This record gives sequence, C-alpha cells and structure tokens, in this order.
Amino acid sequence: MIGVILGTRPEIIKMSPVIRECEARGLDFFILHTGQHHSYEMDRVFFEELDLPDPDYILDVGSGTHAGQTAKIMTGVEEVLAKEPPEIVLVQGDTNTVMAGALAASKLQVRVGHIEAGLRSFNRRMPEEINRVLTDHISDYLFAPTENSRKNLLAEGIADRRICVTGNTIVDAVYQNLDISRRKVNVLKDLDLKPREYFLVTAHRQENVDNRTRLKEILKGLAGVQKEFSLPVVFPVHPRTEKRIKELGIGVDGLNLTKPFGFLEFLQLESQAKLVLTDSGGVQEETCVLGVPCATMRYDTERPETLAVGSNVLVGTESGKILEGVRSAAMSPRGWENPYGDGIAGKMIVMVCAAARPQ
Ligand code: UD1
Ligand code: UDP
Repeated sequence: MIGVILGTRPEIIKMSPVIRECEARGLDFFILHTGQHHSYEMDRVFFEELDLPDPDYILDVGSGTHAGQTAKIMTGVEEVLAKEPPEIVLVQGDTNTVMAGALAASKLQVRVGHIEAGLRSFNRRMPEEINRVLTDHISDYLFAPTENSRKNLLAEGIADRRICVTGNTIVDAVYQNLDISRRKVNVLKDLDLKPREYFLVTAHRQENVDNRTRLKEILKGLAGVQKEFSLPVVFPVHPRTEKRIKELGIGVDGLNLTKPFGFLEFLQLESQAKLVLTDSGGVQEETCVLGVPCATMRYDTERPETLAVGSNVLVGTESGKILEGVRSAAMSPRGWENPYGDGIAGKMIVMVCAAARPQ
C-alpha cells in the first residue's frame, strides 16, 4: 500500500505521473489531500484536467500561519495513517504539506519517499528551503531529479544507498499533457494572442509578494517590459499575489491579469510564449523542458541546472534589472538540452516503491 500525500497545485501536477503509474500497475494506493490549496483553480481543476482519481481523504486544513498550517497537517495526517497505515508514504516537493506529511509519517514508523529530493537554494529565508532540508533528512527514499541534487544530499551526509536519481516528474507531466493540451484547448485564440508575441508571467513567492517594495518593483518591471516590447504581458495571478495587489491598491497598467489557468491552458501558453517571467520553481523547469527562455525574478534558485544549460537567468526583483534581463534573455539562443530526464521518473519511482520489501 502506497500513501500519496499532496496538497498544492504543483504537487498535484508533479504527482500525477506517479498516480498514473500506480493505476497502470494495479497497485494498492490512496491519495490524502491536505487541503492546503482549496480554490477550484488551484486544486480541483487539475484533478479534472489530468483525469486523476478523487482523493480518498481530504483534510481541509486551508491557509494559516506556517506553524498553524503545519500543525493541522501533521494532526490530520497522523489520524489517517494510524487508521490506514501504508507501507510507504510519498511526498513531492517543498511545501508545508510535504514537510508536515513526511514528519507525521516518519514518527509513525511509516517509510517516506521524497520526490524531488536534494534541491537547495542555500537560502534559509525561504520557507521552502527549510521544508526541503527537513524532509530530506527524515526520508528513507530520496528521489533526486538530477546528479546535482544527489551531490547536495551526499554533501549533507545522506547515504548514497538511499538516493535514486530519477529525473523530474514534471518532464513526464509535460510529455503526457502537451498533445492533450493541443487537442483540447486553444487558449491563444481565446486571449487573442499570437505565438511568440506575448510574455507570460507568474509570481507568488512569499519573499517577493509579501514584501511591498519588491512587489511594486516587480509590477513596475513588468509594465516596463510591456512598454518596451509593445507586446501583451499575460499574468495569471496566484491567490496570495491577488490578495497583496488588492491590499497595496497599486495600478497594474498594461498587464493582462487573469485568474490562474488550468494545467492544459498554462502549458500551451508557456510553450508558445516569447519568454516567461516567473518566481515559480516548477515554471523554471517547464520552460527549460519546453525550450522557452525564462527570466526568474529571484536572487537564487534551487534549479541551477536551468542556469547551466542557458534556459534561465536570474534577474532579481528590481524593475530596471528585470527589463535588462528580459532584453538579453529574449535574444539568447535556444536549443539547450533538457537536464531533467526523459519522462520516466514516475515509472522509476513507483518501481522502486513496489520493489521495497515490507519492514
Ligand atoms: C504554497 C507553498 C509554496 C508553493 C505554492 C504553490 C508553503 C510554505 N508554500 O504557497 O512553496 O510554491 O504553494 O502555489 O507550503 N489561497 C487561496 N486559495 C487556495 C490557496 C491559497 O485563496 O487554494 C490564498 C490564501 O489566502 C492563503 C494564500 O493564498 O493565505 C497563501 O496560501 P498558502 O498555501 O499558505 O501558500 P502559497 O503562497 O500558496
Ligand atoms: N500553473 C498552472 N496554472 C497557472 C500557473 C501555473 O497550471 O496559472 C502550473 C505550472 O504549469 C506549474 C505549476 O503550476 O506546473 C507551478 O506551481 P507554482 O508556481 O504554484 O508552485 P512552485 O512550482 O513554485 O512550487
């Protein structure tokens, strides 16, 4: 029995290839949704579009402070696992759901598999960095996406025998859904956009959007990009960011703000964009896989592979630097190699779990 724990948009998307593989192999598994993300466009839409089975358990923890949310997740996960103890729990990524789920499981002596293990920004001011480090150190199986992430784990003293380099399940998700997205949606037509003649933006990092000065600078930078290139800037707004923009009451002239898109729509927008500006982890990877240049509005990244192959540049959060970064990234050559594997990470992860002997 495998217990799949998830709770936010990126976890649903990146866990989908693992869930598909469990289904394909006829394995016994359940899905526990913590309810960290709960709005239709941050949660349900992905189950529908990716044709995933409904969660077996939904905790409904919702939003809150870090400690409050973490505590609620741990209590809820503990209750479920005590009732239905799986042989292994799988978590993916670096959210509070991941860290709290892994911690609750490991204290019940349930083995933990961490998908996307070993990523490090080396910036402890990011809540996600704390979650990554803690989760890696209490996990039994570390599914590292690249050799670089394996090295990070080894450097922290984690035994090599616990690490398996699988590639990133986002490659599986992109490959599995790109054609479906071409057949099922035509979001460029809906938004009156032409291929390669628009920018796509996402921004939701706590350290960016909860900081008034930074958020203002980012919006100013984006407006500058729109003005200089005279191209639409499409910006599906994450609920955290929506809240902060409203609180600030600042203008967002020239930007095409929308609700968050489903995965099929977003994938299509990404694949046809001139360039993507983001502070998202998953979007840095997806653009790299899709061959679309990315400018990351941060000062560090736990995805250095994207910098190394030249798909991504760190442009920071100052308006002038954002514009400068976009100017040069938009001109730089494409055609880099995807460092995140060949789209079989989900299969490898499930194979390892299925072969693991009961304790
Ligand atoms: C969380 C993760 C972050 C991840 C992101 C993916 C943590 C610490 N953060 O950040 O690593 O990159 O998810 O998108 O786990 N809200 C809604 N509806 C929702 C979800 C959130 O309205 O479905 C609003 C709430 O007002 C909430 C705010 O967004 O206060 C933030 O939500 P939360 O889950 O705490 O963090 P994210 O910023 O989404
Ligand atoms: N995404 C989406 N719709 C949107 C914006 C993003 O489906 O409007 C997807 C995107 O394709 C990627 C994932 O959300 O797979 C990234 O999630 P997010 O940026 O919220 O979190 P992070 O990756 O930073 O943890």
